[in-house]
Amino acid sequence: MSILYRTHTCGELRKKDTNKVVTLAGWVDRIRDLGGIKFIILRDRYGITQVVVNPDSPAYAVAQEIGREYVIQVVGEVKERPDETKTNFSTGEIEVYASSIKILSETKLPPFYPGDNVSEELRLKYRYIDLRSEKMKNNLILRHKMAQAAREFLNNNGFIEIETPYLTKSTPEGARDFLVPSRMQKGKFYALPQSPQLFKQLLMISGFDKYYQFARCFRDEDLRADRQPEFTQIDIEMSFVEENDILEIMENLVRFIFSSVGIELPEKFDRITYDEAMEKYGSDKPDRRFGMELLDLTEYFRNTEFKIVNNILEKGGSVKGFITNIPISRKIASDYENFVKDLGLGGLLWFKVENGEVVSPTSKFLGRNYQEIKAKFNLKEGDVVLIAAFDDREVLNTALGALRLKIGKEHFRDKAKGFDALWVVDFPFLEWDEEEQRYVAKHHPFTLPKNIDDSPDKIKAYAYDMILNGNELGGGSLRIHNKEIQEKVFKLIGLSEEEAHEKFGFLLEALQYGVPPHGGIAFGFDRMVAIASQSETIRDVIAFPKTTSGICQLTGAPSIVTESQLEELAIEVVKNENEEND
Ligand code: AMO
Repeated sequence: MSILYRTHTCGELRKKDTNKVVTLAGWVDRIRDLGGIKFIILRDRYGITQVVVNPDSPAYAVAQEIGREYVIQVVGEVKERPDETKTNFSTGEIEVYASSIKILSETKLPPFYPGDNVSEELRLKYRYIDLRSEKMKNNLILRHKMAQAAREFLNNNGFIEIETPYLTKSTPEGARDFLVPSRMQKGKFYALPQSPQLFKQLLMISGFDKYYQFARCFRDEDLRADRQPEFTQIDIEMSFVEENDILEIMENLVRFIFSSVGIELPEKFDRITYDEAMEKYGSDKPDRRFGMELLDLTEYFRNTEFKIVNNILEKGGSVKGFITNIPISRKIASDYENFVKDLGLGGLLWFKVENGEVVSPTSKFLGRNYQEIKAKFNLKEGDVVLIAAFDDREVLNTALGALRLKIGKEHFRDKAKGFDALWVVDFPFLEWDEEEQRYVAKHHPFTLPKNIDDSPDKIKAYAYDMILNGNELGGGSLRIHNKEIQEKVFKLIGLSEEEAHEKFGFLLEALQYGVPPHGGIAFGFDRMVAIASQSETIRDVIAFPKTTSGICQLTGAPSIVTESQLEELAIEVVKNENEEND
């Protein structure tokens, strides 16, 4: 550290340093004036130190000129504070009596001070000020620590870090690509990688049997709290492994990363199948901390007098529901009903146990059924059962699962402390895409199917997701390492032979040159840090994120480019009306 600017940081001085003459440098966090004496809280990345400027100090004149967020250099003597003024800051036992202060940089009146409660838009525009706040600073330090821990674990376990290209060819992870026009090959485009998927598989073919990379991935998709157009994956691939080998080592990795920042995850992560997750929680990323598992109640409604339910059952539908104990009224129930209707269900039935009795607006038709449920599940005073019937079981599960989660978040936030970590395994291999009227790969088309010759809706994959507190932290699979199976899969997802060769010819070619069985996973690193720091959005753990409309408030990207740049690329921009009016 340069002696020129500072001998110590603002987080360093302790009682043992009393009487030392020190030089500190940093930002003026706050200034107080107490009867002529000025107290300056000086801040840098390491902490804060209280600087005292007496009116008779040569530093006093300068102290009168400085304002919050000025960058200053202070020379002074360390003194122990009187006991009653000690604070629990790391430097709280001492203060520095300034003998000189030098202004290193003045500031314009900032749009806000670090940590102020202002709009995110403003924070992002002046991100460099926002990142001075304790919270954002700590988030980035936490991110750094978690990244180092991940590297430490992977390095110690024989993985090597290899970079793969950013200017590449489109690989399908289900989102739109960001395209980069080529000047040298006019009319042609690179795609920014949605993930390094195919390159890591090629590295396995090259014999690098344990690979990792902190990879930036680019996906042009609708953005949300947990999605950015560019985000970071801890991307991993291994050869000569079974699914269980991957799950075990990845579980250890994630436990190690969290433990490095003081968070102890469960000893063993449960494993449940995709089907079980959908049946019990109506979600492939269940947050199990809320309880309230979905129950199959079909048998309690057989031959009910209630026509609507009876009709559904006759068509082969089901009745499912869950037990909770929230306050309920017609109004609340009607809100919940609208919620599930928006998700495709026809309605929502409910009853509660009040004074030992079943109470419900539908008890006239369904009282007997409700009584049976009450007895069977040993319902207690105050219990509420929310029930729906529907013919499509998947829609029924998903809608009730969403309602379960909504209620969980509304009423049981406190219960949701702690960490629920699990694997969801045995994903379906394909899913039907309504828009495109074809099957698409649920994970990606390089995933190894378990039973490829079954009917498409029954094929399962060697695919797994790691779920932490209801968030998909990572996902991966065993891969196809055989050209014939890969071609079969391309066919299943409706790629013609020509298309498959045009898009993935290089992979099909590589699959003919000695391929080890392999598999891997990628973790959403931003999500991991967001969970560890209890941030509501991954934007809070990324130094310079984009807004949900994909804009960088700070730089103004994306922006228009000059005519000559476009000419060089042989690109013509079609202006839309909005832009012309801009
Ligand atoms: P997948 O597409 O499931 O798998 O991505 C892996 C993990 O990346 C995170 N993630 C995101 N994080 C922030 N913003 C986004 N837009 C975003 N999209 C995904 C999630 C997710 O679990 N190549 C495969 C992995 C493999 O098979 O090895 C892949 O990318 O946490």
